[in-house]
Amino acid sequence: MSNDPLFDPLTMRRGPAFRNRLALAPLTNQQSHDDGRLSAEETRWLTMRAAGGFALTLTAAGYVQRNGRGFPGQLGVSDEAHLEGLTALATAIRKEGSVSGAQIYHGGSRAVAEEGEELVSASDDAASGARALTLGEVEKVRDDFIAAAKLAERAGFDGVQIHAAHGYLINQFLSSELNRRTDRYGGSIENRTRLASEIIDGVRSACRPDFQIGLRISTERYGLKLAEMRDFAAELFIQAKIDYLDLSLWDISKEPAEEAFQGRSLLSYFTELPRGDVRLAAAGKVMTAATARSAIEDGCDFVMIGRAAILRHDFPERVRQNGSYVSPPTPVSVAHLEAEGISQAFRNYLSAFPDFIRPE
Ligand SMILES: Cc1cc2nc3c(=O)[nH]c(=O)nc-3n(C[C@H](O)[C@H](O)[C@H](O)COP(=O)(O)O)c2cc1C
Repeated sequence: MSNDPLFDPLTMRRGPAFRNRLALAPLTNQQSHDDGRLSAEETRWLTMRAAGGFALTLTAAGYVQRNGRGFPGQLGVSDEAHLEGLTALATAIRKEGSVSGAQIYHGGSRAVAEEGEELVSASDDAASGARALTLGEVEKVRDDFIAAAKLAERAGFDGVQIHAAHGYLINQFLSSELNRRTDRYGGSIENRTRLASEIIDGVRSACRPDFQIGLRISTERYGLKLAEMRDFAAELFIQAKIDYLDLSLWDISKEPAEEAFQGRSLLSYFTELPRGDVRLAAAGKVMTAATARSAIEDGCDFVMIGRAAILRHDFPERVRQNGSYVSPPTPVSVAHLEAEGISQAFRNYLSAFPDFIRPE
């Protein structure tokens, strides 16, 4: 038995326990078919991570409405046609001993409009040309998130992660800058969090009692205020309708951007909140065993691994074998990524990230 805290199993409020504290972060990889069905390459990339020891394997952001699609080759979780691929993936992840989660998403004003489609958001947005959703359309978005969760449940996923971060649609509702609605979805923080809350409630009542619900939030930028996001987190912990909160920090050791909060880590504003048995995870620049361990020591229950999992499918297994494991330095070669199950389509997307892939 290892006495590394990263390998303590983690019970969850609902659904299967995690075998360790390392989760695969949701990673867009542009490998799905044009109609949102999973491809063999995408299934392989994720199954390799489950086999590599991750406790929780999350899909990339999958759209819940076609007009919320944010990337070419994006996964869809919106149609019966998506069920077969999702079922094969959930089955394969389970076979590798990993808990499965589908990330569900709507891009809002940051979606990529197809011919004849309009961009939509919480309010009119001059920068993107998006228009405000009508009240009926907000309810439809909510219901489509719930339907996506139901589809994931039917496919055999252990749960979903609701994507409320990174300036996408739910984040647009949370933001006091981007959301200027005057109906029950705008104005007070209670109203701006209503869409997220109704989605959580709806998934909770539509899906089986042990279906895991995670929520991913940003805590600053994207028109968000740290104090509001902290209060929202505190409320989520008290209500305990979600099973885990995932903080997308981009750097787990960073300090807050807002001056009034500087002097300690952004993460500490969330780890200090009482949370009962709702679990807390964070993502951002965890490239070594030591950094992952420090996130646990700083109060997270588990850690999201993004780029380090692209570089090594078996990051957890390597950390288990070597408590001082460090990710390979970037840029890496195309051959390295090929051996790690990263197809040409994914590599094309990754080439937008500076200094990740060595030019041939
Ligand atoms: C290639 C790439 C794709 C990503 N796609 C998603 C996504 O689909 N959904 C999401 O919530 N975050 C996405 N992220 C953010 C990651 O989940 C993660 O939070 C971020 O990369 C920071 O973790 P890291 O430093 O370990 O990579 C993406 C990041 C990268 C690098």
